[in-house]
Amino acid sequence: MSDDLTNLIKSFYPYAERYGVIRALPEAGRERAEILRELDGIARAENRSWEGGRCSGSMYSGDHEHYDFLNQVYARFSYINALQRDMCPSMTRFETDIIAMSLDMLHGSAVQEHHPDETACGALGFGGTESIINPILAYRDRAREERGVTAPNVIVPATAHPAFHKAGHLLGVEIRVAPVDETTRVDVDAVRGLIDGRTIALVGSAGNYPYGTIDPIAALSELAVERDLWLHVDACLGGFILPWGEQLGYDIPVFDFRLPGVTSISADTHKYGYGLKGTSVVLYRDTEFRRRQYFIAPAWKGGAYVSNGLAGSRSGGLLAATWAAMVSYGREGYLRYARQIFETAARMRAIVCSHPELTLMGDPTFCFSFRSDAFNVYHVNDHMAGQGWRFNGQQDPEAIHMCVTRPQTRPGVVEAFETDLAAAVAYAKQRAGQKPRSSAVYGAGSSELPAETPEQVQQLLTLALDVLQKYPF
Ligand SMILES: Cc1ncc(COP(=O)(O)O)c(C=O)c1O
Repeated sequence: MSDDLTNLIKSFYPYAERYGVIRALPEAGRERAEILRELDGIARAENRSWEGGRCSGSMYSGDHEHYDFLNQVYARFSYINALQRDMCPSMTRFETDIIAMSLDMLHGSAVQEHHPDETACGALGFGGTESIINPILAYRDRAREERGVTAPNVIVPATAHPAFHKAGHLLGVEIRVAPVDETTRVDVDAVRGLIDGRTIALVGSAGNYPYGTIDPIAALSELAVERDLWLHVDACLGGFILPWGEQLGYDIPVFDFRLPGVTSISADTHKYGYGLKGTSVVLYRDTEFRRRQYFIAPAWKGGAYVSNGLAGSRSGGLLAATWAAMVSYGREGYLRYARQIFETAARMRAIVCSHPELTLMGDPTFCFSFRSDAFNVYHVNDHMAGQGWRFNGQQDPEAIHMCVTRPQTRPGVVEAFETDLAAAVAYAKQRAGQKPRSSAVYGAGSSELPAETPEQVQQLLTLALDVLQKYPF
């Protein structure tokens, strides 16, 4: 193993030297107080990476008082399995309330206007990925039953989240990729050109993860209606913030059930819903779709079994905490935080645009990305990382992604962004022709990726997953 690789792997285990690595269940248990002391120290140190407001995305609330409140709620139900409803009917209350509030926010009642025989509904899952896999499953099975399509395909924008490719991989559904145009939004003519007799659904994002831009959902809706296809809107990222942006008067196009072609929407409660990590909502135009994500084993020896999605046992604590986040903020709270985030994002985008060397990708709002024709933009990331900023590097084209969350709305953060970005641009200019340190790995900040071809990246990330789950030394 090369020194570079050894050092990279060791960087995954910063606690190995200090606390050791456990290779078997310890013979004797440890004192609770000692465990808590150790973990307090770790959590406090790790929190410092985002508390200053320099981390893109991830910490959507970043409000310790809010987290403490949610953790109190979580503690009351953390040991409850939401599958055991006889013991915990509270779960039914939490779940139906969360679905109803989400449907209200995304105009579920509008379904009655264009599809009077249908009734919007929803389901909770463990994250955006589940809220994407489930509708693809529902579409696959419904297309097979009602339309006789046995080798289906779904058309997604090039910017769509990899969860769609994961769904296609797991469910045997072909995922066809439509290019995006210079606005970073999907090219609807290209989508039209990809449709064939086996196409069952289209996908658009509101907004997409890479650039935060919103696909032309109204045009996709029209196309879906015209060609009798289903349409999933991935609002995992934007679902809990764009509706408030629209109310605040920002130029947010309609992307929800007000459009007659939209048949499902994913929206993550654990992102701008400000819940704890581990919940998301998928909404359907009708129960005919939702039913197809249920799994029922009527004759199992363990007793007739039913689950409403991919998970088996589900944490009652997360359902309760998600519910508590929503009711503790209400419309007023969501609107207040959305206003702060939209205003902050506008200021940060203006700072980016003040540098002629930097180009914003498309016309985004709360989440944006920028690239450069003047130098390798990863040099900017390198310098910003040294100042404590954590952005995601992107590829094709190389760009830097910033998803604005509440920690950036605190006093002084935008000003620091302005100062640090100016220095980063100067730094990047001096390094023309040199290789930057950071690269494009989702969820890895400015980490280095010593690989170039897609095959090398695949190999290295496979190795990374292996060593993230077993200390190799
Ligand atoms: C647009 C979009 N869709 C889907 C997902 C997947 O969500 P999760 O990571 O919760 O599975 C994300 C995550 O960032 C996202 O931004």
